[in-house]
Amino acid sequence: MSPLVWDLAHIGNQEEQWLLRAVAGQEALRPEIDSVYDAFEHPRAKRPSLPLLAPAEARGYVADVRGRVLDVLERIPLRGGPLVDAAFAFGMIAQHEQQHDETMLITHQLRQGPAALTAPPPPDTADGAPLPAEVLIPGGSFTMGTSTEPWALDNERPAHRRVVPAFFMDTTPVTAGAYAQFIEDGGYERRRWWTEAGWRHVREHSLTAPLFWRREGGQWLRRRFGVTEPVRPDEPVVHVSWYEADAYARWAGRRLPTEVEWEKAARHDPADGRSRRYPWGDADPSPVHANLGQRHLRPAPAGSYPRGASPLGVRQLIGDVWEWTASDFLPYPGFRAFPYREYSEVFFGDAYKVLRGGSFAVDQVACRGTFRNWDLPIRRQIFSGFRTARDAAPGEA
Ligand code: AVJ
Ligand code: FE
Repeated sequence: MSPLVWDLAHIGNQEEQWLLRAVAGQEALRPEIDSVYDAFEHPRAKRPSLPLLAPAEARGYVADVRGRVLDVLERIPLRGGPLVDAAFAFGMIAQHEQQHDETMLITHQLRQGPAALTAPPPPDTADGAPLPAEVLIPGGSFTMGTSTEPWALDNERPAHRRVVPAFFMDTTPVTAGAYAQFIEDGGYERRRWWTEAGWRHVREHSLTAPLFWRREGGQWLRRRFGVTEPVRPDEPVVHVSWYEADAYARWAGRRLPTEVEWEKAARHDPADGRSRRYPWGDADPSPVHANLGQRHLRPAPAGSYPRGASPLGVRQLIGDVWEWTASDFLPYPGFRAFPYREYSEVFFGDAYKVLRGGSFAVDQVACRGTFRNWDLPIRRQIFSGFRTARDAAPGEA
């Protein structure tokens, strides 16, 4: 990970580059620091040895930038080009900041030592209704991606029709309790559940459980933000790699949903055929819909947030844990890199897998039904979980 103070000044530096220079045409405030905070010039491992602004200086810099940005926002017309129309660059930079905020929370999760962060647990929103294990998503076409969401990033565009055969999707993310059964059943010792690359990876690194889990006195413990406690069986499992999610799904006789299946489950309204912004409709998220925004530093129990359910009854698609999909990170037909190739385009290909839905660590500005995240299949310090799916058999649909 980067030193936290690198993320902090990088947030301000991106804000300065896009909003003060590109949008408002101003001169660089501190031209000598641009290269220090260029993510492509310096891989994470090298960032601790860069000549970083000290914490107080970094705070002063980001506050200075923000003050000037607010002045710009007050006086420029929000139309006249793709960067300013509907305040796109401001939305992009707000999302960039929040994405780094999640990255910084991952750094907190990885660090050793006493707990520094606290938050109340998620509210008990379960409605007590017994939930079906899975939900049938009927076959047919739907609109994936968006051409109208003003702050959607380049990889979410454009809207396009996709045909999706009928399939079943888990009602909730896979729980830690269900995942523990996979472990008990020798999941990590059986070659047959794993892809070739996944098997090589778990063997090479002697993986036996999700990251931060530890077996002690016959039970599973996990460390979360410096606190060690028993794993809660009803919580969505978190900190698993794509390889682990994929192996679990095969063990369960199922598979990961594809990205297009995930988005159809999250957005398609069978009543009118429209694609919604969120599973619950077009309204922005509120605390009754989803566990977002670092209000709670953990996922809510599976089955929570009935008011955030999709029209067909799939729960917790937004918030709680990022959900691995089966899909590689690829451009949609008609994709155009905007405003810079290094946001999405340079990552397209088969090296990265797509995650959907956001997590408890994601701010709502950077989360919607079309939002796409991606990471390497080995990654597990991220707040990643998953749910499983299966094809509908003829006669079931
Ligand atoms: C979309 C989360 C994969 O953190 O690498 C931050 C977001 N891009 N700065 C990342 C991003 C440039 C990106 N992810
Ligand atoms: Fe960045």
